[in-house]
Amino acid sequence: MRIIICENYEELSEKGAQFFESQITLKPDSVLGLATGGTPVGLYKNLIKWNKEGRIDFSNVTSFNLDEYYPIAPDNDQSYRYFMNENLFDHINIDKTKTYVPDGLAKDPDAECARYEELLAQKGPVDIQLLGIGRNGHIGFNEPDTTLNAVTHITSLTESTIEANARFFDNITDVPTKALTMGMGTILKSKKILMLVSGKEKHEVLCELLNDDISTSNPATLLKVHPDVVIICDKAAYEG
Ligand code: F6R
Repeated sequence: MRIIICENYEELSEKGAQFFESQITLKPDSVLGLATGGTPVGLYKNLIKWNKEGRIDFSNVTSFNLDEYYPIAPDNDQSYRYFMNENLFDHINIDKTKTYVPDGLAKDPDAECARYEELLAQKGPVDIQLLGIGRNGHIGFNEPDTTLNAVTHITSLTESTIEANARFFDNITDVPTKALTMGMGTILKSKKILMLVSGKEKHEVLCELLNDDISTSNPATLLKVHPDVVIICDKAAYEG
Protein backbone atom coordinates (compact mmCIF):
# COMPACT_ATOMS: atom_id res chain seq x y z
CA MET A 1 0.00 0.00 0.00
CA ARG A 2 1.27 3.41 -0.89
CA ILE A 3 -0.06 6.46 0.92
CA ILE A 4 -0.18 10.02 -0.40
CA ILE A 5 -0.99 12.68 2.19
CA CYS A 6 -2.59 15.85 0.88
CA GLU A 7 -3.02 19.23 2.52
CA ASN A 8 -6.79 19.25 2.03
CA TYR A 9 -9.78 17.82 0.14
CA GLU A 10 -9.10 19.96 -2.97
CA GLU A 11 -5.58 18.56 -3.34
CA LEU A 12 -6.84 15.01 -2.71
CA SER A 13 -9.48 15.46 -5.41
CA GLU A 14 -6.91 16.75 -7.90
CA LYS A 15 -4.34 14.02 -7.20
CA GLY A 16 -7.04 11.34 -7.44
CA ALA A 17 -8.27 12.69 -10.77
CA GLN A 18 -4.68 12.65 -12.08
CA PHE A 19 -4.57 8.87 -11.58
CA PHE A 20 -7.65 8.55 -13.81
CA GLU A 21 -6.22 10.97 -16.37
CA SER A 22 -3.00 8.93 -16.62
CA GLN A 23 -4.90 5.65 -16.77
CA ILE A 24 -7.17 6.79 -19.62
CA THR A 25 -4.30 8.48 -21.49
CA LEU A 26 -2.24 5.27 -21.38
CA LYS A 27 -5.23 3.01 -22.12
CA PRO A 28 -8.15 4.85 -23.75
CA ASP A 29 -10.42 1.78 -23.49
CA SER A 30 -9.85 1.41 -19.75
CA VAL A 31 -12.40 -0.26 -17.50
CA LEU A 32 -13.02 2.02 -14.53
CA GLY A 33 -14.44 0.91 -11.19
CA LEU A 34 -16.41 3.79 -9.67
CA ALA A 35 -17.79 4.70 -6.27
CA THR A 36 -20.48 7.02 -4.93
CA GLY A 37 -20.71 8.85 -1.59
CA GLY A 38 -19.39 12.27 -0.65
CA THR A 39 -15.66 11.64 -1.03
CA PRO A 40 -15.29 11.15 -4.82
CA VAL A 41 -17.42 14.17 -5.80
CA GLY A 42 -14.42 16.53 -6.03
CA LEU A 43 -12.46 14.02 -8.12
CA TYR A 44 -15.45 13.67 -10.49
CA LYS A 45 -15.65 17.50 -10.79
CA ASN A 46 -12.03 17.53 -11.97
CA LEU A 47 -12.70 14.76 -14.49
CA ILE A 48 -15.66 16.76 -15.87
CA LYS A 49 -13.52 19.92 -16.14
CA TRP A 50 -10.62 18.13 -17.81
CA ASN A 51 -12.97 16.36 -20.24
CA LYS A 52 -14.43 19.76 -21.26
CA GLU A 53 -10.88 21.09 -21.70
CA GLY A 54 -10.02 18.13 -23.94
CA ARG A 55 -7.51 16.63 -21.49
CA ILE A 56 -9.41 13.34 -21.05
CA ASP A 57 -11.46 11.44 -23.63
CA PHE A 58 -14.00 9.00 -22.16
CA SER A 59 -15.43 7.83 -25.50
CA ASN A 60 -13.86 4.36 -25.28
CA VAL A 61 -14.13 3.89 -21.53
CA THR A 62 -16.31 1.29 -19.76
CA SER A 63 -17.30 1.71 -16.11
CA PHE A 64 -18.64 -0.49 -13.34
CA ASN A 65 -20.01 0.91 -10.11
CA LEU A 66 -19.39 -0.83 -6.84
CA ASP A 67 -22.94 -0.94 -5.56
CA GLU A 68 -26.57 0.15 -5.62
CA TYR A 69 -29.27 0.34 -2.99
CA TYR A 70 -32.02 -2.33 -3.16
CA PRO A 71 -34.77 -1.93 -4.04
CA ILE A 72 -34.54 1.44 -5.76
CA ALA A 73 -35.47 2.82 -9.20
CA PRO A 74 -32.68 4.26 -11.35
CA ASP A 75 -34.51 7.60 -11.64
CA ASN A 76 -34.96 7.90 -7.86
CA ASP A 77 -32.70 10.81 -6.90
CA GLN A 78 -31.19 8.72 -4.07
CA SER A 79 -30.14 5.87 -6.34
CA TYR A 80 -26.49 5.42 -7.17
CA ARG A 81 -27.36 5.34 -10.90
CA TYR A 82 -28.90 8.81 -10.51
CA PHE A 83 -25.86 9.98 -8.49
CA MET A 84 -23.45 8.83 -11.21
CA ASN A 85 -25.46 10.51 -13.97
CA GLU A 86 -25.65 13.76 -12.00
CA ASN A 87 -22.09 13.82 -10.75
CA LEU A 88 -20.24 12.43 -13.75
CA PHE A 89 -21.83 10.64 -16.71
CA ASP A 90 -24.19 13.45 -17.86
CA HIS A 91 -21.24 15.84 -18.12
CA ILE A 92 -18.58 13.80 -19.94
CA ASN A 93 -18.36 12.14 -23.35
CA ILE A 94 -18.83 8.60 -22.01
CA ASP A 95 -21.11 6.13 -23.85
CA LYS A 96 -23.77 5.58 -21.16
CA THR A 97 -24.56 2.10 -22.50
CA LYS A 98 -21.08 1.16 -21.29
CA THR A 99 -21.66 2.42 -17.73
CA TYR A 100 -22.81 -0.41 -15.49
CA VAL A 101 -24.50 -0.11 -12.09
CA PRO A 102 -26.29 -3.07 -10.43
CA ASP A 103 -30.03 -2.97 -11.19
CA GLY A 104 -31.81 -1.81 -8.05
CA LEU A 105 -35.15 -2.92 -9.50
CA ALA A 106 -34.16 -6.49 -10.41
CA LYS A 107 -36.95 -8.92 -9.44
CA ASP A 108 -34.44 -11.54 -8.42
CA PRO A 109 -31.53 -9.83 -6.65
CA ASP A 110 -29.39 -12.99 -6.49
CA ALA A 111 -29.73 -13.47 -10.26
CA GLU A 112 -28.86 -9.78 -10.79
CA CYS A 113 -25.71 -10.17 -8.66
CA ALA A 114 -24.67 -13.25 -10.65
CA ARG A 115 -25.30 -11.35 -13.92
CA TYR A 116 -23.19 -8.40 -12.71
CA GLU A 117 -20.31 -10.64 -11.62
CA GLU A 118 -20.44 -12.38 -15.02
CA LEU A 119 -20.47 -9.05 -16.88
CA LEU A 120 -17.38 -8.00 -14.95
CA ALA A 121 -15.68 -11.28 -15.82
CA GLN A 122 -16.47 -10.70 -19.52
CA LYS A 123 -15.56 -7.03 -19.78
CA GLY A 124 -13.03 -6.75 -16.98
CA PRO A 125 -10.77 -6.84 -15.24
CA VAL A 126 -11.23 -3.36 -13.85
CA ASP A 127 -8.06 -1.36 -14.58
CA ILE A 128 -8.49 1.09 -11.73
CA GLN A 129 -11.04 0.78 -8.91
CA LEU A 130 -11.94 3.91 -6.98
CA LEU A 131 -12.95 3.36 -3.35
CA GLY A 132 -14.15 5.41 -0.45
CA ILE A 133 -14.24 3.88 3.02
CA GLY A 134 -16.97 3.78 5.65
CA ARG A 135 -16.15 4.80 9.23
CA ASN A 136 -16.54 1.11 10.09
CA GLY A 137 -14.14 0.00 7.34
CA HIS A 138 -16.75 -1.01 4.78
CA ILE A 139 -15.82 -0.84 1.10
CA GLY A 140 -18.64 -1.02 -1.38
CA PHE A 141 -21.27 -2.35 1.02
CA ASN A 142 -19.02 -5.08 2.42
CA GLU A 143 -19.81 -4.45 6.05
CA PRO A 144 -17.72 -5.77 8.99
CA ASP A 145 -18.66 -9.36 9.82
CA THR A 146 -17.12 -12.67 10.90
CA THR A 147 -17.05 -13.80 7.28
CA LEU A 148 -17.08 -11.67 4.13
CA ASN A 149 -18.59 -12.48 0.76
CA ALA A 150 -16.23 -12.83 -2.20
CA VAL A 151 -18.63 -12.12 -5.07
CA THR A 152 -21.35 -9.61 -5.93
CA HIS A 153 -24.21 -10.16 -3.49
CA ILE A 154 -27.20 -8.64 -1.72
CA THR A 155 -26.47 -7.42 1.78
CA SER A 156 -28.00 -5.53 4.70
CA LEU A 157 -26.57 -2.17 5.74
CA THR A 158 -25.36 -1.86 9.33
CA GLU A 159 -26.88 0.71 11.68
CA SER A 160 -23.67 2.75 11.48
CA THR A 161 -23.84 2.92 7.67
CA ILE A 162 -27.54 3.78 7.72
CA GLU A 163 -26.75 6.62 10.15
CA ALA A 164 -23.82 7.84 8.03
CA ASN A 165 -25.88 7.78 4.81
CA ALA A 166 -28.90 9.46 6.41
CA ARG A 167 -27.30 12.84 5.59
CA PHE A 168 -28.32 12.33 1.95
CA PHE A 169 -32.00 11.63 2.83
CA ASP A 170 -34.85 13.73 4.35
CA ASN A 171 -35.34 11.15 7.06
CA ILE A 172 -33.23 8.28 8.42
CA THR A 173 -36.17 5.92 7.90
CA ASP A 174 -35.94 6.65 4.14
CA VAL A 175 -32.44 5.11 3.90
CA PRO A 176 -32.74 1.73 2.15
CA THR A 177 -31.62 -1.10 4.40
CA LYS A 178 -30.30 -3.37 1.66
CA ALA A 179 -27.88 -3.04 -1.23
CA LEU A 180 -26.32 -5.01 -4.09
CA THR A 181 -22.55 -4.81 -3.89
CA MET A 182 -19.41 -6.16 -5.48
CA GLY A 183 -17.81 -8.63 -3.06
CA MET A 184 -14.32 -8.50 -1.61
CA GLY A 185 -13.01 -10.89 -4.26
CA THR A 186 -14.63 -8.82 -7.03
CA ILE A 187 -12.87 -5.70 -5.74
CA LEU A 188 -9.53 -7.48 -5.26
CA LYS A 189 -9.54 -8.59 -8.92
CA SER A 190 -9.02 -4.96 -9.99
CA LYS A 191 -5.54 -4.30 -11.35
CA LYS A 192 -5.10 -1.10 -9.39
CA ILE A 193 -7.04 0.25 -6.42
CA LEU A 194 -7.25 3.92 -5.50
CA MET A 195 -8.81 4.72 -2.15
CA LEU A 196 -9.73 8.24 -1.08
CA VAL A 197 -9.95 9.00 2.64
CA SER A 198 -11.02 12.45 3.78
CA GLY A 199 -11.93 14.04 7.11
CA LYS A 200 -11.06 13.45 10.73
CA GLU A 201 -13.97 11.06 11.30
CA LYS A 202 -12.05 8.59 9.07
CA HIS A 203 -8.84 8.86 11.15
CA GLU A 204 -9.38 5.74 13.26
CA VAL A 205 -10.27 3.52 10.33
CA LEU A 206 -7.31 4.88 8.33
CA CYS A 207 -4.92 3.99 11.21
CA GLU A 208 -6.15 0.37 10.95
CA LEU A 209 -5.15 0.38 7.28
CA LEU A 210 -1.66 1.54 8.10
CA ASN A 211 -0.77 -1.19 10.61
CA ASP A 212 0.01 -4.83 9.68
CA ASP A 213 -3.28 -6.46 10.73
CA ILE A 214 -5.96 -7.94 8.49
CA SER A 215 -9.42 -8.52 9.93
CA THR A 216 -12.92 -9.08 8.58
CA SER A 217 -14.04 -6.63 11.29
CA ASN A 218 -12.49 -3.96 9.06
CA PRO A 219 -13.07 -5.21 5.49
CA ALA A 220 -10.77 -2.56 3.98
CA THR A 221 -7.78 -4.20 5.73
CA LEU A 222 -8.10 -7.06 3.20
CA LEU A 223 -6.71 -4.63 0.62
CA LYS A 224 -3.31 -5.23 2.26
CA VAL A 225 -2.96 -8.42 0.22
CA HIS A 226 -3.38 -6.53 -3.08
CA PRO A 227 -0.14 -5.62 -4.91
CA ASP A 228 -1.19 -2.18 -6.16
CA VAL A 229 -3.19 -0.06 -3.73
CA VAL A 230 -2.75 3.69 -3.40
CA ILE A 231 -4.45 5.56 -0.56
CA ILE A 232 -4.84 9.29 -1.02
CA CYS A 233 -5.85 10.97 2.24
CA ASP A 234 -6.02 14.50 3.51
CA LYS A 235 -4.26 15.74 6.63
CA ALA A 236 -7.52 15.75 8.58
CA ALA A 237 -7.85 11.96 8.07
CA TYR A 238 -4.15 11.30 8.59
CA GLU A 239 -3.68 13.36 11.76
CA GLY A 240 -7.18 13.02 13.23
C1 F6R B 1 -20.18 4.04 -2.29
C2 F6R B 1 -19.57 3.04 -1.43
C3 F6R B 1 -19.29 3.28 0.00
C4 F6R B 1 -18.65 4.65 0.30
C5 F6R B 1 -18.42 4.83 1.79
C6 F6R B 1 -17.84 6.18 2.11
O1 F6R B 1 -20.32 3.53 -3.63
O2 F6R B 1 -19.31 1.99 -1.91
O3 F6R B 1 -18.46 2.26 0.47
O4 F6R B 1 -17.43 4.74 -0.38
O5 F6R B 1 -19.64 4.68 2.46
O6 F6R B 1 -18.77 7.18 1.81
P1 F6R B 1 -18.42 8.73 1.92
O7 F6R B 1 -17.47 9.02 0.80
O8 F6R B 1 -19.74 9.43 1.72
O9 F6R B 1 -17.81 8.94 3.26
